[in-house]
Amino acid sequence: MAGVTRLWAWIGAAAGGALVWKLLWPEFVQRSPSHFLASVEKAYDGRSPVALITGASAGIGAAFARRLARAGYDLILLARRKDRLDALAAELQRQHAVTVHSLVADLANSDDVERAAGIVVEMGEAGRLDLLINNAGFGTVGAYADLPLQSQLDMLSVHVAATMRLTRAALPSMLRQRRGGIINVASTAGWYPLAGNATYSATKRYLINFSESLQAELEGTGVCVQALCPGFTYSEFHDREPYRASGFRRERLPAFVWQTAEEVVEASLNALGREVVCIPGLHNRVIVLAGQLTPRRLVNAIWRRVSPV
Ligand SMILES: NC(=O)c1ccc[n+]([C@@H]2O[C@H](COP(=O)([O-])OP(=O)(O)OC[C@H]3O[C@@H](n4cnc5c(N)ncnc54)[C@H](OP(=O)(O)O)[C@@H]3O)[C@@H](O)[C@H]2O)c1
Repeated sequence: MAGVTRLWAWIGAAAGGALVWKLLWPEFVQRSPSHFLASVEKAYDGRSPVALITGASAGIGAAFARRLARAGYDLILLARRKDRLDALAAELQRQHAVTVHSLVADLANSDDVERAAGIVVEMGEAGRLDLLINNAGFGTVGAYADLPLQSQLDMLSVHVAATMRLTRAALPSMLRQRRGGIINVASTAGWYPLAGNATYSATKRYLINFSESLQAELEGTGVCVQALCPGFTYSEFHDREPYRASGFRRERLPAFVWQTAEEVVEASLNALGREVVCIPGLHNRVIVLAGQLTPRRLVNAIWRRVSPV
């Protein structure tokens, strides 16, 4: 009897240890200096590395641009709002010795996606693409049956189709160079069902599985992939029309759930090459893990109670 009790105690301790490791180890990785930035810097030996960032006119994308410019990256900034991109490009070129170009494109439009993919291929062939950040995205508010279908198809194009296309355009040259990084910005929303955000949650789940499978295919090639899963982040995301119209207010959620775009970016870049799935912030990892361990019906019931919209 005592033997059985001891066995259960060991199993409990091992499970507890694994849980603590799963929650705390990423915190250590995300706070350590970026292995990826350092390795690219060394490979370039004084020349500027290059990154293309989609959704760079605001929020997390703009924070990536500022951080990478500070690290000496030349940048291609993609989004729809030219004035925003040009202003950011001017700011970064003024502050750092880097070259920054704006690329105006609507990733819900397949012609624009093809044009952007062509530019990615050209950059790769010239040996001028080190990092691709598929970050552009948006949310909608409401039940799938009530939302305009086009808004959901656009979301599929921006989150999924554009990421697939640009990633496919970047890979051949990265594989030839045996070097490169691809960050796909998913969300903690990709970890559980979200009534009122069905397409959002499903497209973000796609990005997580796609990134993990792709990284497994790319093992040993020198090219690394990351699914970045931020939780609630200060940006323009929740100021945009569907959220404004729904009466969404940030203060309805406890302050500790919010991170700045800069915190998310730092965690992502530090983890790139070391963690395929990067969930910035201990609180977000606790929420994701709890969501994984909780029966789906209960997750749905809890979400109905706590959903901020
Ligand atoms: N904020 C959060 O709480 C949160 C949480 C988890 C995940 N995320 C994800 O993080 C990513 C960045 O979002 P954010 O929070 O930084 O929001 P944001 O401040 O609203 O920025 C979104 C960016 O995506 C661009 N974009 C949107 N639709 C586009 C389109 N059709 N074509 C090209 N660019 C488009 C926007 O630029 P233009 O409007 O100029 O085109 C903007 O630069 C998104 O993928 C989002 O799903 C955000």
